[in-house]
Amino acid sequence: MNALETKYADRIAQIRAKYPDKRSTVMPLLYVAQEEYGWLPDEALRDVAELCDLDPTEVKTIAGFYTMYSEKPKGKYWLQVCTDLPCALVGADEFFAELLDHLGIEDGGTTEDGLFTAEHVMCLAACDRAPMLQCNFHFEEHLTMELMREKIAQWRAEAAREAEA
Ligand code: FES
Repeated sequence: MNALETKYADRIAQIRAKYPDKRSTVMPLLYVAQEEYGWLPDEALRDVAELCDLDPTEVKTIAGFYTMYSEKPKGKYWLQVCTDLPCALVGADEFFAELLDHLGIEDGGTTEDGLFTAEHVMCLAACDRAPMLQCNFHFEEHLTMELMREKIAQWRAEAAREAEA
């Protein structure tokens, strides 16, 4: 039994009950691993591979293909900004550039305090609500930089409260 299975035995059993073929559990198990580590280090990929009877390289390929999985450490708030064509047509590129500037990071970078990672992604299926981003899998839509500055200030305050508690 590996570390992931030991800690999440019940949850993994529930996932396996839904997908009788072990190989089909790879994506939900990657979510479990990402929750545990905050991203998907090699040890997490190895654990998932073992649980799915897959080669770790296959699991790494799957993790690398989908933008909802992260193969490197990320900030507490993981901002994924859609800059695909429909969003770009209403200013997503400029919005993303301003956001990076406001945070003082490059595309894919993380702020020095470890709070924010921002990166551009392809369509998130909210084209009619652009500019938009997802923060930790929650959509923020119809954004302006003014709104974004407020949200970032709120998230910083939230993180500070959590750190004090
Ligand atoms: Fe941005 Fe679809 S193009 S959500």
